[in-house]
Amino acid sequence: MPNSFTPQHAYTEEFIPRDYLQTSYAAEKGILIGEYTDFVLENLHETFIKGGVRGDTLLDIGTGASIYHLLSACEVFDKIIVSDLNDKNRAEFQKWLKKDSDSFDWTHIIKFVCELEGNRQNSEKKAEKLRNKVKEVLKCDALKPNPFDPVVIPPVDCLLSCLCLEVACKDMKSYCEVLKNFKGLIKPGGHVVIMGTLNASFYHVGKKQFSALTAKTETLETAFQEAGFQIEKAAFAPRVNKSWINVADFGGKYFICARKPK
Ligand SMILES: C[S@@+](CC[C@H](N)C(=O)[O-])C[C@H]1O[C@@H](n2cnc3c(N)ncnc32)[C@H](O)[C@@H]1O
Repeated sequence: MPNSFTPQHAYTEEFIPRDYLQTSYAAEKGILIGEYTDFVLENLHETFIKGGVRGDTLLDIGTGASIYHLLSACEVFDKIIVSDLNDKNRAEFQKWLKKDSDSFDWTHIIKFVCELEGNRQNSEKKAEKLRNKVKEVLKCDALKPNPFDPVVIPPVDCLLSCLCLEVACKDMKSYCEVLKNFKGLIKPGGHVVIMGTLNASFYHVGKKQFSALTAKTETLETAFQEAGFQIEKAAFAPRVNKSWINVADFGGKYFICARKPK
C-alpha cells in the first residue's frame, strides 16, 4: 500500500502511457481485460445504445490513451472531445487517431463492442467511426475550476470519466468538489457517466506505484447526490479474479450514470 497520495506531477513525469495500456488492456493478459472491461463496456452499451443517453457532444475527462469507453458513445454523439493532464497520453491517443503503425492494438476490445451491438459493422468500420467523431484532444486538469483553461468549452450533453477521479482526487471531499464543478460543464438535463474501481489503494504502471482513492459504494452515491445530480443508474460489482492483486488492489468496480436537473 502506498504511504501517501500520488501527487499530480507524477502523472506528468512518471506515467508511461504504453506501460499503462500494456499492463491494463493487452489482449488476454491485461489486468483489466475481462472482468473490468466486460462490466464497463456492457454498462456503456446499456446506457448509450439502449438507454437513450445521447446528444451532440460528449466530453471525456482523463482519457489517457484509452479508447475502449468511447466505442458505444461514438454511435450516439456527433462529436467527442477527449482530454488528459499528461502530454504523453495525449500524444499516444493521437497515434491511434492517426493510425500510426506503432499505435496500441485495441482490436480485441473493438470486436467485443461490435458483438454487443450485434455485429452490425466490423471492427475496422467501428474504429473509423470513432476516429471521425473525435474532434478535439485537449489538455485538462480535472481539479481546476475550468479544467481546460484557457480554452472554454460550451456545456456538453454528456461528461464521461473512467478511472480518473480515483487518481486525481485525494479524498471523497475532493471527489465531490470535482463532481460539483463538472456540473458547470454539462447542459441542464445532460448526463454525467463515471466509472472506476472500489476499495482500491494502489495500482502499478510498469514498476511505478500510483495511489488510488478508496471509493466505497455508499460514499460514492452520497457524493453524486451532494453534488446535485439525480442518479439514474448505479451498478457495483465485486472483483472476482484476484490474480493480479499485487499489481492493482481494487476490490470491485462501479458505474454511475446521473443527470443534471433541468
Ligand atoms: C488510470 S488512468 C485512466 C485512463 C483512462 N481513462 C482509462 O480508463 O484507461 C488515469 C488517467 O487520469 C489522468 N489524470 C490524472 N490526474 C488528472 C487530472 N487532475 N486531470 C485530468 N486527468 C488526470 C492521468 O494522466 C491518466 O491518464
